[in-house]
Amino acid sequence: MDILRSIQTRRSIRKYGEQPVEQEKIERCLEAGRLAPSACNAQPWTFIVVNEPGLKDQVARTARAQTLNMNKFAAQAPAIIAIVEEPANVTSTLGSKIKRKHYPLIDIGIAAENICLQATEEGLGTCMIGWLNEKKAKRLLGVPDSKRIPLLISLGYTTDEWPNSRNRKAFEKIVRYNKY
Ligand SMILES: Cc1cc2nc3c(=O)[nH]c(=O)nc-3n(C[C@H](O)[C@H](O)[C@H](O)COP(=O)(O)O)c2cc1C
Repeated sequence: MDILRSIQTRRSIRKYGEQPVEQEKIERCLEAGRLAPSACNAQPWTFIVVNEPGLKDQVARTARAQTLNMNKFAAQAPAIIAIVEEPANVTSTLGSKIKRKHYPLIDIGIAAENICLQATEEGLGTCMIGWLNEKKAKRLLGVPDSKRIPLLISLGYTTDEWPNSRNRKAFEKIVRYNKY
C-alpha cells in the first residue's frame, strides 16, 4: 500500500471486537511513532501501551463523557496507547518561547498519526482521543502530575464494516498558490 492509499484508508474506528492485537503489530505501530519528526529532534513523548484488561477499562473510562455520549467505544478496544508529553530539549523549548508555538503538541500530533497509519497498514483500527480526564488517567498510569497526556489512541480490530470516509473540505478551498 502506498502512503496516500494508507492515508485514504485510515478512519477513526469506534467499534472493536475482542480479538487481541498481536504484540509485533503494536510494536511496529510504536516504531512508526518513534521515528516521527519533531522540532529540534526533541522527541517529547513516551508511549504507554495499556493492554492489561482491568487497567485498560479504567483508562478508557477517563475518556468517557456521558452527557456528550462520547468515547464509550474506548472500553471495547483491546489496547489503548497513552501518549505522555515529555519535556522537550533546550533548543525546542527556547524555540517554543521565542516563536510562541508549543512545538511538543505538534510533534505529538505527528507521532500519533504515524502510529495510526502504521495501524492501518496492519489492518487495525484506531481512534485518537483528545477528550479525557488527564488527572485520572495520570493517576492510573503512574504519570507524574506535572506531565500531560494530550492524547490516547484506541487500537484494535473492528468487527464492523470499515466506515465511509468523513467529509473533507474541498481541495480548492484549502489550497492556495503563492498568495493567501
Ligand atoms: C486531536 C484529536 C482529538 C480527537 N479526539 C477524539 C475524541 O475524543 N473522541 C472521538 O471519538 N474522536 C476523536 N477524534 C477523531 C476525530 O473526530 C476524527 O479524526 C474526525 O472526525 C475525522 O474522522 P476520521 O478520523 O474517520 O477521518 C480526535 C481526533 C484528533 C486529531
